Amino acid sequence: MQLKKVVFPVAGHGSRFLPATKATPKEMLPIVDKPLIQYAVEEAIDAGLTELIFVTGKTKRSIEEHFDASLNINVTNITESKKRLFDEMNHIIPDHVSCTYINQEEPLGLGHAILQAKPIIGDEPFAVVLADDLIDSKKGVLKQMTEQYVDINSSLISVQKIQKKDSIHYGMIDTETSNGSIRKLTGIVEKPNPDDSPSNFGVVGRYIFSNQIFSCLETIGFGTGNEIQLTDAIKKMIASQSVFAYEFEGTRYDCGDKLGYIKANVEYALKDKKFGNKFLSYLKQKIL
Ligand code: G1P
Repeated sequence: MQLKKVVFPVAGHGSRFLPATKATPKEMLPIVDKPLIQYAVEEAIDAGLTELIFVTGKTKRSIEEHFDASLNINVTNITESKKRLFDEMNHIIPDHVSCTYINQEEPLGLGHAILQAKPIIGDEPFAVVLADDLIDSKKGVLKQMTEQYVDINSSLISVQKIQKKDSIHYGMIDTETSNGSIRKLTGIVEKPNPDDSPSNFGVVGRYIFSNQIFSCLETIGFGTGNEIQLTDAIKKMIASQSVFAYEFEGTRYDCGDKLGYIKANVEYALKDKKFGNKFLSYLKQKIL
């Protein structure tokens, strides 16, 4: 079945980023001049997805307003380049793409957030993007994954090699051996201690699921941190159908973490066509 829908869980507390996230979702924090959620949305649209579903919490308004096409800025003496910028801002979402906003009333975890999208997803497969995982790659990771999905037609989760000492921050996977970038999952565990981690592959926030993930999410109950954990549902799904791990190409920045966020800003600022070189000179001055 063709993949059209993508879920963005954006209701998290962003507690690692307080006080910036007191009244603003962490997904609205900018990398240079664009909020994280816009990078995620552009990646999804570039992968051919046309129905965007945002699972929002109490600070949802800014996300809805950001993608609202009817922004009306009344300024006189506006330059041509500003006009172009305003026009671009009003067309982040192309006409053939729709946005739906669902409220997650209680923050009961990532799995619970995804479950809120069930009535809209119906019986279709769908993608999930965690916008605080920003991935810099030639080809968007969701596009890489949708291309793989055409061949395997099974649930697919993105992974990267991490240092084992960092396993406490990731869903960690166990797989059958393979020489390629696709491996069949045999196990998954949420944020284990390094000694208990089944491998050095950690899950990154891009997923494609068959809709069977919903029945798994509905039956697993509360897990770590008294939350409904997506990882527990994936573990349950492995028992009845194939799930694959995909080692993507690209550099991932954990923008839910202050240091990861700052690194992403530095890297994207260095790539900026207008001021990248000036910024590099500034950094050199600072360091040398
Ligand atoms: C979530 C998932 C975890 C995954 C991570 C990727 O954790 O629960 O399995 O490895 O995203 O960013 P969180 O970062 O929300 O704590």
